[in-house]
Order: sequence, then structure tokens, then C-alpha cells
Amino acid sequence: MTASLQAETTNQVIDQISLTKRTIDQILDRTMELVNQGDSGIAISSLFFRLGKLSAKFSCETFQDWIRDYCTSHPIAEILWQSPITKRCFSKPKGYAGDATLIDYIYLKDENIEYANEIAEILHKSICNSTSCDSVRERAKYFGNLITQISESKNRKISAISIASGHLRELDHVSHFEDKVYHFIGLDQDAESNTEARRSYPFKGLTVLDESIKYVLAGKLEAESYDLVYSAGLFDYLDEKVAARMTKRMFELVVPGGTMVIPNFAKGIIERGYMETFMDWYLIYRDEMELYGFMRELDMSQVASWNIHGDKYGNILYLTVVKKG
Ligand SMILES: C[S@@+](CC[C@H](N)C(=O)[O-])C[C@H]1O[C@@H](n2cnc3c(N)ncnc32)[C@H](O)[C@@H]1O
Repeated sequence: MTASLQAETTNQVIDQISLTKRTIDQILDRTMELVNQGDSGIAISSLFFRLGKLSAKFSCETFQDWIRDYCTSHPIAEILWQSPITKRCFSKPKGYAGDATLIDYIYLKDENIEYANEIAEILHKSICNSTSCDSVRERAKYFGNLITQISESKNRKISAISIASGHLRELDHVSHFEDKVYHFIGLDQDAESNTEARRSYPFKGLTVLDESIKYVLAGKLEAESYDLVYSAGLFDYLDEKVAARMTKRMFELVVPGGTMVIPNFAKGIIERGYMETFMDWYLIYRDEMELYGFMRELDMSQVASWNIHGDKYGNILYLTVVKKG
């Protein structure tokens, strides 16, 4: 590259960065204005939308590289961090994003939340009302209903396992659990969350294991033992290789005629920009082909059927695989 061409390219990059900084200033100044005039709910919707558009334009690396730091140096950041969900995710008391206590905020299990002030409360509730949070609540309902449906279709009690089970809130959606399930395993690396899961669901036949997914990957669970094998809120953090290996191991656990379900956040959710900027919450968003790719280590001769469907909001995709009977 000649020196003049290099200078021209450098100038273009500098121009692009200053233009982006001006756009960010406008977005964040406007958010501050809306909050100050008492419209915190509108402030959040508009911030989600505009940061969402910005994040769609830039790669995750660019966001991490400088956009996030630029945004969080704006005075609005201190206000947003007062909302419990943003604060917990950004500060990561458990060392990772998306712990089960934070997910309980999304499940609206918020009786004991203390808000620093009224703005913090409105911001928190507006965030928890976003469509991605609707999808997380819908996901818990989906798995609760699936447990019921499989038990009804087999006309007997079933066995099931949830990997990275968190607080197992899907069980809120299963009525008369003990009539539908004879053996249920929750497996999660977080012992404190597991204590809460055991406390909330002291059901006969339910065991929660303090184990990481290494336990599953090492093949320590008994094969062909579960009518339903699923993992919600985990694959969004796993790279392609680990996701494919986990899919293989999980499928080994399914009984003949049983079902495995793996959800993953879809690309293009509007909340991504806010999550990455102010919550420091990075997920791996995937499309249908990438979910299909989870199956690449499966012995397809054992697969009776598979499908991928999206939830009604278009935010979460579900891969379902049924084993031959
Ligand atoms: C987003 S939460 C989902 C919890 C629950 N499945 C749900 O849908 O509400 C993610 C869970 O994954 C667990 N987790 C993360 N990495 C894990 C690992 N390597 N092994 C086991 N559990 C893990 C966390 O402890 C957390 O409870």
C-alpha cells in the first residue's frame, strides 16, 4: 500500500469513528433527557432500539474494542446501572453473566428486590418487559408444557434431565409434577442456585447435581435413561465445537423414542446492543443453519426426526431431535 493510500484509509477510519461517536452522543443524551423528564420507560425502549441498530452495524469485537467503553463513560451509565438487572449483570457477583438469580428477575420473581429510587425501578421493570425477556419466560413455559405433553402422550410418568438447570423455574408450569415425572435430574455448576432449586421444588424423584457440563461431556450420566433431555440458556455461551460435542452426549442420554431439545438465542434481537454495552452480557446468537450444525457429531441413523422452530417473538430458536424407537 502506498503512503498516500494508507493515509487516506486511516483518515476514513478516523472519520467513521467520530461519526459513530456523534451518533452515540445523540442516543445517550436523548436517553438522559427522557429519564430527566420522567419518561424512563420510553427512554429504555428507544435506547434498546437505537443501540440495537448500532450493534447490528458493528461486529461484536468493535463493540468490545471501544464502543462499549465510550458508552459507559457517559453519565447515563451510572443511572442505568442503578436498575438491579443491569447492575447485577454488569458487576457479575458470580463471576459470569446470566446467573440464575438474574434470570429470576426476568421470571419476575422480584418480591424481594430493593430499588435505589423510583427511576431504578421503572428502568428495571421496562428492561424486564422487553421482548427478549418475554422469550425467556416463554422458554420456561415451553419446557414446563413439554414435560406435561410428553407424559400425557406416553400415558405414563416420564424421566427427564435439564442441563444447566438454574432455579428450574420451568417446573412452575408443571402441575402435579409427581404424577407426571418419576425421575428428574437438574444439573448445574452453581451450588448456591442448586440449593434454591431444591428448596423451591422439593419433589419426590427430583435430584439436583452440583456438576458442570464436564460431567456430561465425560459421559458420566447413564446413557438412554431420559424421555426428555434439554438444556435452556447454556448453548448461547458454547462455541461450535463444544456445542456439537454436548449435543452428541445429550443425545446419548435419550431413551429410544425420546426427545432432546436445545434452544439458542436467534440473531438480530433488538436488545443485543444494550446487553453488550451496559450489561457486559455477550451471547452467541445463531441462525437455523448453526443450530443444524449442533447435530454434526450425531449418528443420524438413530434420528427418527428433527426440526428447528422459532418462538412467537422470533428471539429464540429451538432444535428438537427425536430418537428412533
Ligand atoms: C441463563 S441460566 C439458565 C438457567 C435455566 N436453565 C433457565 O432456563 O432458567 C444459565 C445457567 O447455566 C449454568 N451454567 C453455566 N455454565 C455452566 C457449566 N459449564 N456447567 C453447568 N452449568 C453451567 C449457570 O450456573 C446458570 O444456572
